[in-house]
Amino acid sequence: MEQKYAKLIFEDEGKEILLPIVVGTEGEKAIDITRLRRDTSYITIDPSFANTGACYSEITYIDGERGILRYRGIPVEDLVEKTSFIETAYLLLHGKLPNPDQRSKFSNLLNVNSMLHEDMRHFFDGFPRGAHPMHILATMINALSTFYPNVDALSLSEHIDLSAARLISTVRTLAAFAYKKSVGEPVVYPRHDLPYCANFLNMMFDSPVAPYEIDEEVVKILNVLLILHADHGQNCSTTAVRIVGSAQVNLYSTISAGISALSGPLHGGANQAVMEMLRKIEKDGNVQKWVDKAKDKNSNFKLMGFGHRVYKTYDPRAAITKKQCHEFLKKMKIKDSLLDVAMELENAALKDDYFISRNLYPNVDFYSGIIYRAIGIPENMFTVMFALARLPGWIAHWKEMVDGDNKICRPREIYIGKPLRRIED
Ligand code: CMC
Repeated sequence: MEQKYAKLIFEDEGKEILLPIVVGTEGEKAIDITRLRRDTSYITIDPSFANTGACYSEITYIDGERGILRYRGIPVEDLVEKTSFIETAYLLLHGKLPNPDQRSKFSNLLNVNSMLHEDMRHFFDGFPRGAHPMHILATMINALSTFYPNVDALSLSEHIDLSAARLISTVRTLAAFAYKKSVGEPVVYPRHDLPYCANFLNMMFDSPVAPYEIDEEVVKILNVLLILHADHGQNCSTTAVRIVGSAQVNLYSTISAGISALSGPLHGGANQAVMEMLRKIEKDGNVQKWVDKAKDKNSNFKLMGFGHRVYKTYDPRAAITKKQCHEFLKKMKIKDSLLDVAMELENAALKDDYFISRNLYPNVDFYSGIIYRAIGIPENMFTVMFALARLPGWIAHWKEMVDGDNKICRPREIYIGKPLRRIED
């Protein structure tokens, strides 16, 4: 295809340069500025990266205007219908869904790597009572780097299945152990005879006095939620993973950085914040008051689970979780008053000019918590569930970066501080 250019005119200096235009598979356009500073001494400035493409990627396509999300070209709607989380994880890592042989080898790797190093169990005792599971998880994953110090970019790019399986499996075990510790119950070890999601549910809810009965509907909905969260392009935590990983940091420490980024309420932490908000609104009984508060520029309050940097229409993940939430609660004969509050809030916001004019719609976090609650997962574990789900995405991006032109990420800045001055000034 013929190379097209964008012309950049420097009016003051009376010069102009041509910058190459690059076009993605789906017609997304960008201006390649990689030679800009060398050729002109200028840099670009884009705090919070709203207009910056940080990399080329083959993993996930998002069209924020049309509400499209595809992993490796496959619509997420099809993946939730026809695959398990583990198959989707494999797809993200390898670019194709596994055949039966690859599926069984990957499952086997997940099984043999599901145990925590026994010494790590004692670490749990050092955390204060009430510590947030996301902080425990980030710390524990970082601690894994001391058990596997050589898991770095160069040594592991060829053994991606092993490192991915170890992480995906260990985080599941860590998450369930953290929960058991928080409720003062003995931990339940992983079982090789159970598939990934059923195994997790069993580790969470089985107890010596009340054996857990695995319900296939619960397993199914958990697979759906994990698939929906499995990747989302260059979001804050994935960017953290790419940036930290670009310094050739140990993979576990790199993932720990992603988990820390995800814990914030503007990112993955929103799923817990949504539930806290819905409960407050239910107690107050006045939905419109909270919609007005979210519009008030003098208030810090935002509608949690609303708005998105990329989606300017209904988040396709929210559309799926909303539908699945209704169907699941009906099947399980669960009545949750918070679902009524959520729907009332959504209706009020979507009728309001403030939200309409800013293209603010429910995002993935708006309905997911109500499903987690119905499964029995406590609120402070919601963001841990997000982290568990996002692991394949983080690892796939890390691998893509390692296998590519792995230069250290190092943005510049425009210094606006004091000009040169002396100590005595
Ligand atoms: N409630 C009220 N107003 C909002 C909201 C909201 N939830 N979100 C954005 N706005 C307003 C914002 O104040 C701004 O108004 P104005 O133009 O008058 O200054 C306008 O909409 C544009 O918003 P922005 O802050 O420039 O958007 P952003 O792309 O920087 O932020 C966001 C995106 C997701 C951080 C933000 O929408 C938000 O804080 N939402 C609530 C938290 C949330 O649900 N986070 C989960 C995101 S999806 C899952 C994930 O990434 O993990």
